[in-house]
Amino acid sequence: MSGSGDTGSGDIGVRPLFSAEEICARVQDLAREIAASEPQALLAIIVLKGGFVFGADLIRALALNGVSLEIEFISLSSYGSRQRTSGEVRVVRDIEVPVAGRDVLIVDDVLDSGLTLKFARDLMQSRGARRAAIAAMIDKPAGRRADVEADYVGFTCPDYFVVGYGMDAAHAYRELPFVGVLEAAASEPR
Ligand code: IMP
Ligand code: MG
Repeated sequence: MSGSGDTGSGDIGVRPLFSAEEICARVQDLAREIAASEPQALLAIIVLKGGFVFGADLIRALALNGVSLEIEFISLSSYGSRQRTSGEVRVVRDIEVPVAGRDVLIVDDVLDSGLTLKFARDLMQSRGARRAAIAAMIDKPAGRRADVEADYVGFTCPDYFVVGYGMDAAHAYRELPFVGVLEAAASEPR
């Protein structure tokens, strides 16, 4: 460990942006906000892979706030191993239940260009969801290309490529308990 404070980041070349403690507190806030919207027959749709850590924390925070729900997973392709989206989104693995008439909460790690989450929300609306809300841990408004905003945002962040808390760079770093920026990339705006 070398001078990285209480983030547990060690010497792995990731500069912490949001600590595990900050994330935990923010997830509790979001759960309270979502609970206050009194969702009916809630279906949480976690977007794989990046949304799985946030999703796992959020559903438990929702439970502590009295919200019962079902969970589904969807896998959507956007980036491949590159850091810029191609603009094309497709369903790699679909959810397994109908959404007609239900309140749906789509949970993902990052809202960047917005192409992925706009696609996901349009898809659920076209299938007849009563309400399709979006929860994103990180919002990067500078990258937006699609007309979409999240209903619930963990943190708004500059146009860095962030990793940790489910988010990867070329399949690495998802396991970090905090969100950070790769040291090499931090000094190079995209
Ligand atoms: P969008 O379609 O451009 O909004 O990007 C959505 C997906 O790209 C997210 O669900 C992430 O999986 C990935 N992504 C976008 N920005 C980042 C980032 O900074 N770090 C890691 N993954 C990212
Ligand atoms: Mg993703």
